[in-house]
Amino acid sequence: MEREIVQIFDTTLRDGEQSPGATMNIEEKVMVARQLEKLNVDVVEAGFAASSEGDFESVRRVAELMPTPIVLSLSRTKEDDIRRSIQAVERAKNPGIHIFIATSDIHLKHKLMMSRQEALDASVWAVSYAKKYLDYVEFSAEDASRTDPDYLVEIFGEVIKAGAVTVNVPDTTGYAVPEQYGQLFTFLRDTVPGGETVKWSAHCHNDLGLAVANSLSAIQHGARQVECTINGIGERAGNTSMEEVVMALKTRGDVFQDVTTRVVTEQIYPSSQLLSQITGITVPLNKPVVGANAFAHEAGIHQDGVLKNKLTYEIMQPQTIGLASNKLVLGKHSGRHAFVDRLQTLGIDYTGTDMNKAFARFKALADKKKNVYDEDLIAIVTEETVRLPDQYELLYLNVTSSSMAVPHATVKMKVGEDEIVDSAAGDGMVDACFKAVTKIAGLDPQLERYTVKAITGGADAQGEVSCMIRENGTSVNGQGSHTDIIMASALAFVNALNKLAHRERYYQSQTAAGREGP
Ligand code: KIV
Ligand code: ZN
Repeated sequence: MEREIVQIFDTTLRDGEQSPGATMNIEEKVMVARQLEKLNVDVVEAGFAASSEGDFESVRRVAELMPTPIVLSLSRTKEDDIRRSIQAVERAKNPGIHIFIATSDIHLKHKLMMSRQEALDASVWAVSYAKKYLDYVEFSAEDASRTDPDYLVEIFGEVIKAGAVTVNVPDTTGYAVPEQYGQLFTFLRDTVPGGETVKWSAHCHNDLGLAVANSLSAIQHGARQVECTINGIGERAGNTSMEEVVMALKTRGDVFQDVTTRVVTEQIYPSSQLLSQITGITVPLNKPVVGANAFAHEAGIHQDGVLKNKLTYEIMQPQTIGLASNKLVLGKHSGRHAFVDRLQTLGIDYTGTDMNKAFARFKALADKKKNVYDEDLIAIVTEETVRLPDQYELLYLNVTSSSMAVPHATVKMKVGEDEIVDSAAGDGMVDACFKAVTKIAGLDPQLERYTVKAITGGADAQGEVSCMIRENGTSVNGQGSHTDIIMASALAFVNALNKLAHRERYYQSQTAAGREGP
């Protein structure tokens, strides 16, 4: 029997981006979108076009570049939202819109101040209006898992009549438990008039750690679309993790006998790495499927078993998610051809990468470090795939510290066309360095998050620093990698300042063009 497809609806660029610290700029969203194309997801929610000029622009850019998936913009039931969404996806090969309204009494009373009838009328109006312009209309009943099921039957029935082709049953607050959530699908599919003509979709949040289990239960009760994000990023505890759902369906094909997905699973690991690199949100070591320890066997008894036969402790093959078992890739004798070849083998997208700079960085790294690993390459390509001309460039850094003296940093930076040197003392070497950089830049951003991790194992591993800074209500992430973590920290900080400068320039251009700022 042929397996039915469970559509993978990726909302990394919308619900995922709403998670604290996951803000991405347009170029970063474009990189993620290219990766989603390689993953072969079915639907991409590119953003919420009406929420800001920046979101509108990024939905538009993503829509233009994606040949395969349906590209959607989220929209409230308001005419302005719908118009903005339609404009933003107009150049997509497969455009669509995702209209939502909250349906639980708690949300209707306290958030929307609407009656059930008003919400129903607004939904029918919105779906009918959007349907005049787009064939693909999805409707979501926000907080569905806490909504009166009879009201869900009514509202879903009416929006289906108005033209919705996919109906989504979100567990917005992560409140549902698997059996109950699954039963809701059975009930709705059996009861909603026209329910057999549409695709039923699950959208879960992970507040109780049940998002994946709930999504799988929904599939067992007839859902044929799962809304999810790479690495499970999203509001609060996150959304359903794409890689966990996809690999559960694949690995337990014996249980999920009648379904499969179209995802190219070998692209899972590169996608996870790319997103983590861009957002600076590190993947927990023990994260299922993509965590660094997911395929590591530490206990002697386990190692012994795996050496005798991998099946003793491995239910998935690392290669299936694109994690090469031999991760050693290149060294200092490798040439440009080998470098490019390895990127292609890994499926790393280097469109828009300054390959001269990337190769030079690879050579410099290979000189310092005996072995250059796949993760090192991903970091280099992500950092060199940029974007707009940088306002700041780090030219020189000298930091001194001892147990007897206050740490002190001297920094030379290029700011526009000028070269400026300044120095500062700080609480530690990183602090001194950041203070010197901010003096030169003439800014005083707040450091909201600072994380360091080793990209690969070994004493010569590159340190990868991610820092989030905030200035005038805007937060941005900066990343830097280097074999010296103070240097990696300075690079990450300067990268963040450049992103602030890009945003500033973008807002100014919008204001000059007479558009409303985000
Ligand atoms: O969690 C939610 O309810 C949502 C909707 C907008 C679909 O993200
Ligand atoms: Zn959500």
